[in-house]
Amino acid sequence: MDKRQFVKGGFDAIASRYDLANRLLSFGADALWRRKAVGRLGERPLVLDLCAGTLPLSAAYLRRFRARVVALDFSLRMLRVGLKRRTRGGLLPLCGDALRLPFPEGTFSGAMMAFGLRNLSEPWQGLKELYRVLAPGAKAVILEFGRPRLPLFRQIYHLYLAHFIPWAGGLITGNSGLHAYLYRSIVSFPSKEEILRQMEQVGFQGLRALDLTLGVCVLYEGVKP
Ligand SMILES: C[S@@+](CC[C@H](N)C(=O)[O-])C[C@H]1O[C@@H](n2cnc3c(N)ncnc32)[C@H](O)[C@@H]1O
Repeated sequence: MDKRQFVKGGFDAIASRYDLANRLLSFGADALWRRKAVGRLGERPLVLDLCAGTLPLSAAYLRRFRARVVALDFSLRMLRVGLKRRTRGGLLPLCGDALRLPFPEGTFSGAMMAFGLRNLSEPWQGLKELYRVLAPGAKAVILEFGRPRLPLFRQIYHLYLAHFIPWAGGLITGNSGLHAYLYRSIVSFPSKEEILRQMEQVGFQGLRALDLTLGVCVLYEGVKP
């Protein structure tokens, strides 16, 4: 099975338990990371939430700012679960492919993506598409898992990811395969420096990468000049 099918099938299958698994396995830190991303993006009238899943990032954005948020994901089941969230209005969910966005160049004044980049079958194509649909001056904020460097913490974290998460995640969602993939995808994904280099190559400026929770999560940001 190719990555695209594996990822789509996996998220379709665990959609109803995705939020619970995230909350428990991250000890609630996922909500703090998303809140941080929302704050870094700031208030913008038309925002794209790429790989929006069950819409936690869109909902966090709309709780803080009045805006229109287009939330795109290729898993209809993830989006459906997300639609049960309460939002103040302004949410436009859309089932579609992040690698072929159905929007003209320069559409959005901001974009955000949480834990989507690593799941794309072609991450750099995803970055290019993201860049293409931003208007000049628009900002992008991306959250992705990182690889902590602090020696003891790094070892404990790796054990946690490689052994505890597949087991506990499997109990919560019934799909230990997808949780085991999480570990493989994190350790094999390009480094923070490489991601910043790719963002620069795509055209982003004002690049920054902020470590959150000792580097378990990294917040990348860039602006389209
Ligand atoms: C780990 S979830 C992240 C969901 C949400 N952003 C969050 O913060 O929890 C990754 C999401 O990426 C979506 N995804 C992966 N590849 C995609 C693609 N090519 N187009 C659209 N969505 C994609 C999956 O369906 C899944 O919902």
